[in-house]
Amino acid sequence: MNKRHIVFLTGAGISAESGIPTFRDSNGMWGKYDAMKLASIEGFRENPQAVLDFYNARRKNLLEVEPNHAHRVLAELENEYEVTIVTQNVDNLHERAGSSRVIHLHGELSKVTSSRNKLLPDNIKEYPLDVPIRLGDKAADGSQLRPYIVWFGEYVDKMDEAEYWVKQADIFVVIGTSLVVYPAAGLVDYAPKGIPKYLIDPNEMEGVLPLGFQHIKAKAVEGIDRLVKEFS
Ligand code: APR
Repeated sequence: MNKRHIVFLTGAGISAESGIPTFRDSNGMWGKYDAMKLASIEGFRENPQAVLDFYNARRKNLLEVEPNHAHRVLAELENEYEVTIVTQNVDNLHERAGSSRVIHLHGELSKVTSSRNKLLPDNIKEYPLDVPIRLGDKAADGSQLRPYIVWFGEYVDKMDEAEYWVKQADIFVVIGTSLVVYPAAGLVDYAPKGIPKYLIDPNEMEGVLPLGFQHIKAKAVEGIDRLVKEFS
């Protein structure tokens, strides 16, 4: 018999308990740093050094954190279910926890690419997290090397793939995202009608909770155990 298919949409909240700050919570990154200066193509053109410093620090920090219980449970669920993870996160904690199908909508800190043609597969490379990307470093096409990240205003090239998988879901689960950034947040509308849908988030989701979703009001580490109980 076919395994039931669980599709997860995850955001910064699932990595918060691993020590990576979210973006919009009270201690969130965008409260401290200017997103338009540090995470946009205009910002990179205006001050590439500041953008590289910002991402080099986040890349290095990834070596100092570990997947948490929530990441690990999503990987373990592959024993009983078909599991697909569509994530907005640029960290590699899902893969390090052992998850085998992870679609990164907003890029990956562990990779670099070209400033001229960032989506050309030949230009996208794994890059050691403790090696800073420097001004003057060249991509395969000779252009300035840049982080393989989808910055504000840039095309989210993995949306079609993500929509495809969300439409296959038998169970759909959203974990740790404020659902304010599009097109990612729009994925909730592609989950088939009538299937079980859950959202794990410690904050009130009034006015945000999509229709037909059951809100598990908890942090990811506690919430994932409550979710798994729902399945059994
Ligand atoms: N467990 C689960 N959820 C949590 C936890 C936790 N421990 N801590 C916070 N949250 C929730 C918050 O309540 C909030 O709803 O996680 C969500 C984090 O929201 P954001 O900071 O907006 O992060 P995210 O939704 O992933 O941001 C989307 O915006 O800045 C861009 O490209 C960036 O991918 C990112 C996108």
